[in-house]
Amino acid sequence: MSRPDEFRFEDLEVDRLRAIRQRFLDAGESAQGIGDYWASDLDLLHYDAVFAERIGWKWDAVLDEVDARGGLAVAAARGATVLDWGCGTGIASRRFVERFGAGRVLLHDRSARAMAYSARRLGELEQPPEVERWLDALDAPIDVLLVSHVLTELEGQALTDLIAVAERSTAVVWVESGNRPASRQLSRLRDLLLPGFDVVAPCPHDGPCSALLAGGEQWCHFYAKPPAAVFSDPDWVRLFKQLGIDLRALPYAFFALEKDSELDGPAPDHRLLGRPQIGSRVATVWVCEAAGLAQREVVKSRDKELFRRLKKEVGVREMG
Ligand SMILES: C[S@@+](CC[C@H](N)C(=O)[O-])C[C@H]1O[C@@H](n2cnc3c(N)ncnc32)[C@H](O)[C@@H]1O
Repeated sequence: MSRPDEFRFEDLEVDRLRAIRQRFLDAGESAQGIGDYWASDLDLLHYDAVFAERIGWKWDAVLDEVDARGGLAVAAARGATVLDWGCGTGIASRRFVERFGAGRVLLHDRSARAMAYSARRLGELEQPPEVERWLDALDAPIDVLLVSHVLTELEGQALTDLIAVAERSTAVVWVESGNRPASRQLSRLRDLLLPGFDVVAPCPHDGPCSALLAGGEQWCHFYAKPPAAVFSDPDWVRLFKQLGIDLRALPYAFFALEKDSELDGPAPDHRLLGRPQIGSRVATVWVCEAAGLAQREVVKSRDKELFRRLKKEVGVREMG
């Protein structure tokens, strides 16, 4: 878990955290957006220490999956140029650099204060990349575009611009909250971008998004796990209780796309979505397959090992 040097739990103001959280909820609900809300460095520090850290756990899960698929050769092969678009405190680029390294990180945010904060934190990494402010007019080549939790704040033109940036990037990793509207919007973006890219993750096929095609109640989302140490850390447990946030529920949606990818082997033939429903003898899971979305039953007496694993999955989230 990486925390800024100056971070101590006792310094955190719960009311400030509540106000920041409320601002995000407002930003998501307001049709006009709410403008630059990064009012102070202290707000950024609070966001970074708590909410961004939580987003970082989602990025860990995403990058694990990308890594396991052998994705992002473009990043592994050389010091990639990475653009963190809507960087906030830069959690996406920090997690990325910690995992893959990077030659140069370009930061973009409508808040100059946020970019300055991100640059400072990137500079504290063990192997700090070069950091610059991104200027679209420079038309810099982008190896990896990172986008994290910005979709609900973007109005028409900003989203159009971002899609154009994605189209000219070699790889795109985009992570959003796992709620239904955000996930559906992300699935539509995946389908829009797909003709120019290969799917690295999470899809087991490169056809149109099965969750969108199915149209019903299901949507493409997953659950990340915070590090085990978080559950036994009384500071984290108390803080999330005070904020009314379930520490165990880390829903996220994402896609990782890459041009001319060099993946390790074929895509898995299916991908579990959401949470399994565990009964005493049957577990019900939603799976995405090349043929579409399907609900499957895992019967304990017939498939003990899989049933046990699904139960453990849910059980881990029920801890703490
Ligand atoms: C919810 S924060 C997420 C920050 C960071 N990516 C993360 O995952 O923690 C959304 C960020 O997008 C930025 N943002 C919103 N609209 C933007 C726009 N039109 N252009 C550039 N940045 C924007 C905000 O200033 C904010 O820093």
